[in-house]
Amino acid sequence: MTRIALLAGDGIGPEVTEQARRVLTVVRPDLEFVEALVGGAAYRVSGHPLPPETLDIARNSAAILFGAVGDFSLDTLPRELRPEQAILGLRRELDLFANLRPAIVWPALADASSLKPEIVAGLDILIIRELTGDIYFGQPKGIAINAAGLREGHDTMRYDEAQIARVAHVAFQAAEKRSKRVTSVDKANVLETMQLWRDVVIEVSRDYPGIALDHMYVDNAAMQLVKNPKAFDVILTGNMFGDILSDQASMLTGSIGMLPSASLNADSLGLYEPIHGSAPDIAGQDAANPLATILSAAMLLRHSLADEAGAVRIESAVEAALASGARTRDLGGKMGCTAMGDAVLAAL
Ligand code: NAD
Ligand code: IPM
Ligand code: MN
Repeated sequence: MTRIALLAGDGIGPEVTEQARRVLTVVRPDLEFVEALVGGAAYRVSGHPLPPETLDIARNSAAILFGAVGDFSLDTLPRELRPEQAILGLRRELDLFANLRPAIVWPALADASSLKPEIVAGLDILIIRELTGDIYFGQPKGIAINAAGLREGHDTMRYDEAQIARVAHVAFQAAEKRSKRVTSVDKANVLETMQLWRDVVIEVSRDYPGIALDHMYVDNAAMQLVKNPKAFDVILTGNMFGDILSDQASMLTGSIGMLPSASLNADSLGLYEPIHGSAPDIAGQDAANPLATILSAAMLLRHSLADEAGAVRIESAVEAALASGARTRDLGGKMGCTAMGDAVLAAL
């Protein structure tokens, strides 16, 4: 049996991971799922959002399937105890630096986007987001009384050249298998960290003479993403800009409920999760779209288990379910989360 850590988390996390587990079980009966508490669900039981047992289970599995964490009623806890620290802790402890967030417009969903169908039809872009550095993890950070006696908050944007180079290599290697173009998104016109980002990306690009590299400031990239998204292929960017641009890109595909992700380290241990959060506004109503998580399960097979055929089987089943008219509410339909899972299983 191949062991998969199943960390469902909070809100809609358990609902969407359950549908992905059902799909994986059909495609790969040899998988053994080991469940562990994470996020607010773990805090309520053990007083910590990422208990040591959960981290151990994650470390000792072939891959991790993750739902979402986040619980507004725990937002007043000290930061280190908040649910979000669980996913940040997993990324840091497992050194999951390369975050792949593909944004694909499935043929049946070209008219589900808030943009005109001709702008988005056929879109297939890959956002590669650095996931263990930047202003998320840079020290120092905090809230303190400044010299004027005022409360002052500070976070530190930081990257060293090794952190930039390793994720740049991932982007160029991904581009080699696609249309051989990388757009690096930064803010080098203002930020020193981002000047280093641009310099290092250019240095790494010399190892990939067949790949065309261009650079774009993040504000322009946000605009171009809605003006002419098909001009992009691989987008390489830092942790914070990648977070924002990927939620934006999800709307090109019809819904945030469509975007999967893979978070990989140098040993190819991977964590797979939808890019969305715990969606407290729809949790417990069987209303969430499970496709982002089901597509994350396909990425799990592809990147952690070298099972390309299994991944394609799941992706084809999602495509067929959508073609048959299956739509959750976020896609303008009426189906619940379980019914969408059923539709994918039927297509399998
Ligand atoms: P969110 O992604 O949870 O929700 C944003 C909006 O999108 C909501 O209206 C929600 O209903 C909708 N939505 C999200 N996923 C959906 C799905 N699968 N199907 C249908 N609709 C969906 O973002 P938020 O509201 O800003 O954050 C809620 C909580 O989730 C916060 O605590 C936040 O910190 C956390 N969060 C966690 C992760 C993660 O675990 N990786 C990611 C993002 C946000
Ligand atoms: C994501 C989320 C996380 C992030 C939060 C919950 C820490 O928004 O996975 O995109 O900002 O990375
Ligand atoms: Mn996000």
